[in-house]
Amino acid sequence: MIRAPEPQDQPLIETVVEHGQEQIFTWWDELSPESRRNLLGQVRTLDFDQIRTFRRLLDASKKPCRKPLHMAPAEVIRMSRSEEEIRAREEARQAGEEALRGGRAGVFLVAGGQGTRLGFEGPKGCFPIGRMTGKSLFAMHAEQILAAVRHYGVRIPWTIMTSEGNDAETREFFVRHGHFGLDPADVSFVRQRMLPALDAEGRILLDAKDHLFMSPNGHGGALLAMADGGVLDDARRRGVDVLSYFQVDNVLIRILDPVFIGYHLMAGAQMSSKMVTKRHAGEKLGHFGRVDGRLCVVEYSDMLPEDMEARTPDGRLKYEAGSIGIHLIDPEFVERKAKDGLELPFHVAHKKIPFVSESGERVEPDEPNGYKFETFIFDALRETASSVILEVRREEEFSPVKNRYGEDSPETARRDLTNQFAGWLEAAGVRVPRDREGNVPGVIEISPLYARNREEFLEKIPEGIRFEPALTLDADGEQTNREAV
Ligand code: UTP
Repeated sequence: MIRAPEPQDQPLIETVVEHGQEQIFTWWDELSPESRRNLLGQVRTLDFDQIRTFRRLLDASKKPCRKPLHMAPAEVIRMSRSEEEIRAREEARQAGEEALRGGRAGVFLVAGGQGTRLGFEGPKGCFPIGRMTGKSLFAMHAEQILAAVRHYGVRIPWTIMTSEGNDAETREFFVRHGHFGLDPADVSFVRQRMLPALDAEGRILLDAKDHLFMSPNGHGGALLAMADGGVLDDARRRGVDVLSYFQVDNVLIRILDPVFIGYHLMAGAQMSSKMVTKRHAGEKLGHFGRVDGRLCVVEYSDMLPEDMEARTPDGRLKYEAGSIGIHLIDPEFVERKAKDGLELPFHVAHKKIPFVSESGERVEPDEPNGYKFETFIFDALRETASSVILEVRREEEFSPVKNRYGEDSPETARRDLTNQFAGWLEAAGVRVPRDREGNVPGVIEISPLYARNREEFLEKIPEGIRFEPALTLDADGEQTNREAV
């Protein structure tokens, strides 16, 4: 019989046992009163109905052949080519600019992930991505927002979603950097919720004798965090009716893009998305499509092979719209959903999870040994009555830092940033060398506080600008041609 330190906690222990999770108390007899209280504190946050759902999902995920989904392509606003499309785009830009000038836009960044693949010590947003300036991902994003604040002459609230493991460090980083020049009253942090993980038998895993292993509830947790953390109330108070949602690791993100905002508002959309054309049929991106008439993003692994390869009569991939984690969200939509309980489906992932061995040692396994559960933001799309999907150029808007080396690494992100800025210089008539793949041998960094985009850059090309083989332009247009390090 396991005895709670306080009699009022006894029912909690009994609930755990009733749900077949008594392994949580394996080391109970050795724990100090404080450790027991801490463990019970964690247990109190568990939702046993939810854990039942996890167990069901786990069983389903072990079945050898899951049913692939029958889908239809989703409607997309393509890159503007015809005169009519160009006019519509211009109209959207004006509507977006007007909303921005009217202070109707806010920003929501998800930065609660664990960044396991990058393996950087500290929150991913603190990663120094600027090769010459050493600027962090957070600093780059903050400068973009500050540039928009100055350009539109309004306050723009920015919320950063963190999780238990990186919350304190993230907040401290912002304080240490003076909130990167932003008004601290407009920068807020919300912590996403945490979930337990299960072993193959559906038992909750402990990573210490007195501690349950918990991991963040996925980027879909953003919606709950908006409701939990007062973001929705704040938006209402400020008259904000569109949130620019993005992920911390995309170095090419265009936060608060007026064209995107305009299309979204003109369509009266609840949640909108940007997409890129897939590089090839098998590229591992989620696909926009309609399943039973509802808009969704289908994982490549859930698609029928014939759908994956299917072509349209003009030879394009039938399902070519890849999801890149860039959205606009109407806070009122989230508020309405929050009232209904905000239930996004859980996805299961087989992962390496530290655990306590039978002899009481903490083990860091080499192979996946347990299951994590996450929600994904794009699953909210199926709840929308109206939604816009806007096609964008990958080389202008999407280059994520996921891995330490190789594809989607700091190296490719820096290359893509440099290539983008090189395009601006070339448009201004500056000669920039490129190799056979079109990459620039060197590094270019232009502060968004100097120019937010190519158009702004072309309006104020600094005198005597040159590239040899490096160039940085700071907020005041101060040029440095230091060798890259
Ligand atoms: P990823 O799914 O790529 O995860 O997150 P990650 O944590 O960055 O990296 P790995 O998979 O551990 O290597 C995409 C975006 O969603 C955020 C991340 O911070 C990133 O901005 N995210 C992810 C959250 O905010 N919370 C989560 O629970 C998961």
